[in-house]
Amino acid sequence: METSLVPAGSLRRRDELNFLETPPPLKNLDELPYPDFSSFNLTEYKELEVLPILSSRGCVNRCVFCNERIQNLGFRFRSGVSLFKEVISQIEKHPEVTSFSFQDSLVNGSPRELGVFADLLIDYPRKVWWWGQANIRREMTKSFCEKLKQAGCICLAYGIESGSNRILKLMNKGITKEEAEEVIRNTSTAGISVRANFMFGFPGEEEEDFQETLDFIERNHEFINSVNPAREFGIFRDTPMAQNPSQFGVNLAQGERYWQTIDGKNNYLVRLNKHKRFCELATRLGIELNTTFSEEMYSACEQNYLASQHP
Ligand SMILES: C[S@@+](CC[C@H](N)C(=O)[O-])C[C@H]1O[C@@H](n2cnc3c(N)ncnc32)[C@H](O)[C@@H]1O
Ligand code: SF4
Repeated sequence: METSLVPAGSLRRRDELNFLETPPPLKNLDELPYPDFSSFNLTEYKELEVLPILSSRGCVNRCVFCNERIQNLGFRFRSGVSLFKEVISQIEKHPEVTSFSFQDSLVNGSPRELGVFADLLIDYPRKVWWWGQANIRREMTKSFCEKLKQAGCICLAYGIESGSNRILKLMNKGITKEEAEEVIRNTSTAGISVRANFMFGFPGEEEEDFQETLDFIERNHEFINSVNPAREFGIFRDTPMAQNPSQFGVNLAQGERYWQTIDGKNNYLVRLNKHKRFCELATRLGIELNTTFSEEMYSACEQNYLASQHP
């Protein structure tokens, strides 16, 4: 039984050690109590004015590389009213708090409830700022993004992953590059900062596909404030890719980090090199990088990989 707004995955990990049985998923997250920060001296924390908050667990999508839905037992979300009440309750207890950082995978799993949350915040006399991750979806229209901005949203981080529709389809991402472009433009022009996540080296990704990803950020750089490029493409246990590696043409003998394609053309070093090329372009375009990007880092990663090949 989930008893609080802590991630369900932490309970699952204990289950792997046979400490606890897998808890049945709680259907109504609104039943959970709010996190209690009263025993924390918030003034001792660097970002004393920011508190974490959770609007959902899991995800509405089923990307083949992602374990979000698997670890969190599907998708469940809180009502906008419950979210608003938590925000107010925390501010009343901690008047120094001005902002909330959503810790879940998407704040827009239910656009309807997100809209309710936004409307309540717009009518609330005190300004509250918030940010989080979000999915690319058609409900993120310009007017909806403007409402979120008015309600205090300052940044949304979207998983775009690739600028190639062929690769997005293979990923089962459920979006096209055209939809991604429209949503980030709507978000950015509404005045909300856009962060975009990308991944490199999905099995079957050819140079032309990767070039489409580079083209994507070049074409849209004025609507992307920062990027979050995954340095390592992990094939995590229980995901469709880990369960059916041969279907994806993948050899997992060297583990979830150092996997390679069966033809050997796509390995850790190939993916690392794409990360580097992507970061070089983002830097040239003036997009902030939310990743370490230095020769020392690439060299250390390479050394570790090569050492793993000849233990
Ligand atoms: C958990 S998702 C949440 C973002 C949002 N729900 C979306 O995808 O639109 C955060 C990001 O983690 C990255 N990610 C997910 N699975 C990964 C994996 N197996 N290896 C590396 N990065 C991964 C992806 O770039 C993804 O956008
Ligand atoms: S990558 Fe994002 S959209 Fe895809 S399943 Fe994971 S959390 Fe959901």
